[in-house]
Amino acid sequence: MVENLITLGLETSCDETAVAVVEGRFNILSSAVASQDEIHSKYGGIVPELACRRHVEMIRPLVKEALNIAGIRLDRVGLVSATRGPGLVGALLVGLSYAKALAWARKLPFAGVNHLQGHVMSAFVQRPGAPLPAVALLVSGGHTELFLVETIGQLVHLGGTRDDAVGEAFDKVAKMLSLGYPGGPVVEKMAELGEPVYNIPVAMARADTLDFSFSGPKTAVKQLINKLEKEGSGPISANICASFQRAAVDALVLKTSLAIEKYNPASILIVGGVASNGALRRAMNRLGEERSVEVVFPDPMLCTDNAVMIASAGACDFLNDPQNRVFRDYLTLDADPSWMPGAEPR
Ligand code: KG4
Ligand code: ZN
Repeated sequence: MVENLITLGLETSCDETAVAVVEGRFNILSSAVASQDEIHSKYGGIVPELACRRHVEMIRPLVKEALNIAGIRLDRVGLVSATRGPGLVGALLVGLSYAKALAWARKLPFAGVNHLQGHVMSAFVQRPGAPLPAVALLVSGGHTELFLVETIGQLVHLGGTRDDAVGEAFDKVAKMLSLGYPGGPVVEKMAELGEPVYNIPVAMARADTLDFSFSGPKTAVKQLINKLEKEGSGPISANICASFQRAAVDALVLKTSLAIEKYNPASILIVGGVASNGALRRAMNRLGEERSVEVVFPDPMLCTDNAVMIASAGACDFLNDPQNRVFRDYLTLDADPSWMPGAEPR
């Protein structure tokens, strides 16, 4: 049953409509993603109402596409899995309602998945035998969190951002420099052309906590741009990007290294959209070598929002306890826009 189970996963928590087909726990048969970057880029950030409408348009063709690519007919699907939270409530409702209706019509079990749990699962899709316990650093546009992973599927929250998420800070720095949206990839490209000559303070560097703060570095960049403009030199974008990126990476490495000291993990999992950042990858690989801990980075296509991680998380939950009623009594199950792993969803 484990090897044969075919899971159809749906993800619509933010601005990517995504559908995937996974075999067993981790074997990717297809992954279809429709990005909405073009729609939101002119606003410099996500417009929730536009995101929901686009999900409604895209979900059905994407389910078809994912099944076609996988070469799987709907009657071979054994489990439907969808993101239940956290995320934008209207966006979540599109994928969740579609998935529940599909499961009900086909009399299939259904798994409601936590999006953050899904991101962590992407590391196990990449490396199914990643040694446990692991410390997982989730860095995305909506989250900056550290988790302890004792067994696959069970996360203990160790710390998180007290204000902006790191990806959000990358996006805002890009907006200040008129570099477009999403900001992370373009800030990384610009940073390669510059030098980190400006001192951007590393958030919460001294505090003995696993929490983060990224509004400080963001404000420091704003003040730096104002100062350079007043001086008439104009902002030198490449150097600003390099300086901001160094501060952000330093903060992430610092807190991850503190988590290694406290929890002595066998591996570190770096997941979420910002995990595709090359400077972060290099710094974390160095940290892993210094501490003799394996570092796992998912492939970039598994870092940004995708449905493979949702299908895989649903399959792992289901295969652990297939008789559990939660996979059958799902019709009243609702979206929970602020659901944190480990907590009971509302
Ligand atoms: O995981 P994700 O696709 O969506 C959320 O769940 O938020 O992450 C998107 C975030 C955006 O803020 C984007 O700017 C950032 O990931 N990002 C990057 C890079 N690629 C994407 N940040 C820094 N460097 C990158 N190469
Ligand atoms: Zn995400």
